[in-house]
Amino acid sequence: MKLKTMTMEWTGNSLKLVDQRKLPHVIEIVECGSYHQVAEAIREMIVRGAPAIGAAAAFGYVLGAMESPENDDISSIKAHMRNVYKKLASTRPTAVNLFWALNRMEKTLTEISDLSQMIETLEQEALRIAYEDIEINKTIGRYGASLLKEKSSVLTHCNAGALATVDYGTALGVIRSAVSQGKKIKVYVDETRPYLQGARLTAWELLQEGIPATLITDNMAGWVIKQKLVDAVVVGADRIAANGDVANKIGTYSVAVLANRNKIPFYVAAPVSTIDPEIKSGSEIPIEERSHSEVTHVNGVKIAPEGIGVYNPAFDVTEHELITAIITERGIIRPPYKENIARIIWGGK
Ligand code: MRU
Repeated sequence: MKLKTMTMEWTGNSLKLVDQRKLPHVIEIVECGSYHQVAEAIREMIVRGAPAIGAAAAFGYVLGAMESPENDDISSIKAHMRNVYKKLASTRPTAVNLFWALNRMEKTLTEISDLSQMIETLEQEALRIAYEDIEINKTIGRYGASLLKEKSSVLTHCNAGALATVDYGTALGVIRSAVSQGKKIKVYVDETRPYLQGARLTAWELLQEGIPATLITDNMAGWVIKQKLVDAVVVGADRIAANGDVANKIGTYSVAVLANRNKIPFYVAAPVSTIDPEIKSGSEIPIEERSHSEVTHVNGVKIAPEGIGVYNPAFDVTEHELITAIITERGIIRPPYKENIARIIWGGK
């Protein structure tokens, strides 16, 4: 079985990715034929967004299995696959979906008794992860759409769209679903400095869908919200702690504070795989710091003076008190988050 979406294509022996660093002006496909190349693509953000990097890593794991030393004994194959795991896991620290997908792949490997079936079995599991993600996003979309008014103006931050997932998106999935139900939805898109996922990717996706969208710089969000130009905020997540604290793209916290102050709902849309029950609160979530050049430069053009100090955290944490609801494929989670998240994770629906 194969897979082909806007974000990624599994050909059977390679993973093709649309190079998200170059969108929207250049549509270039990068073909990864080895797990090292997949790891590089995740680290360099050719592919990005929590569910997308999880699925990409799963296919990277399959490529790693294909690179196993031939005619080797089981223990050296296992040692090789541990290295594959470690390499892929070392790429980006914040989005838990990466580790969730790799753990699922590793578990599948440990359950294989006949090694001649290894590649096929792992490939099937990676495809399951990818296809499940699409269905999960559609379900999140349906739940989330029920929260939006018939006529609504929504602010979103970063890109939690088709490009950040295997397809359809989480936060943008909510918007897509509401629009497909006939609701009149307008979207304000934060540009999302420094990487500009909003200006480049979310704006592009919404334009392609014909959903009315207005781009603003991040520092305009407060004024937009204060003027009541939006009635809800919907964002994605990279990791959700057991108490409901949410790590998402840097700038999300500011938007949550603004939404709270102005009494509009702040929704987080994410699959259950983004919840990390091992992490009690947001303060334990590892926050990735990226290259200073992302801040000193805009689209490759240097804007800051040489020698200036830079801080570039890629994510921030929004405390659960600021979150109106977390929309998952198993339903909408509302406070008290600790209890309700535990029920969703351990107790089914
Ligand atoms: O650094 P990125 O672009 O990978 O960060 C992406 C985000 O923060 C998204 O909001 C999050 O991964 C959810 S994607 C459905």
